[in-house]
Amino acid sequence: MSSSDRIPARDLPPGTVRRVGDWAVGNRDGELFGVSRRCRHQLADLSEGSIDADGCLVCPWHQSRYDVESGEMVEGPRGFLGYHGPAPGYSQLVRGYARFLKLRVRRVVRRGKDVVVE
Ligand code: FES
Repeated sequence: MSSSDRIPARDLPPGTVRRVGDWAVGNRDGELFGVSRRCRHQLADLSEGSIDADGCLVCPWHQSRYDVESGEMVEGPRGFLGYHGPAPGYSQLVRGYARFLKLRVRRVVRRGKDVVVE
């Protein structure tokens, strides 16, 4: 096992997201998750993102939101597509897009003093 698949658990307090190798690893109030680091929109580093009140991972660039269990984009990028108001078919478009653009998901566990991406 390499050091690129783990970080000390003390570096990942509840509500934080950190980079662990190719993964964005987070602590959702004690529940750990790991997803691939590159945002499906424009490849921002999701390990620099944040966790919102719904437990979704939010991209640091245009605030796309991801379900960290499925890797699905539940809300698309803001302030980027020039979208200003309701348009028929838009949410359907985002849903179609999101299915296509899932993040990869990995299991993350606490092992001793470390948090490990399996
Ligand atoms: S790069 Fe993530 S929403 Fe744009």
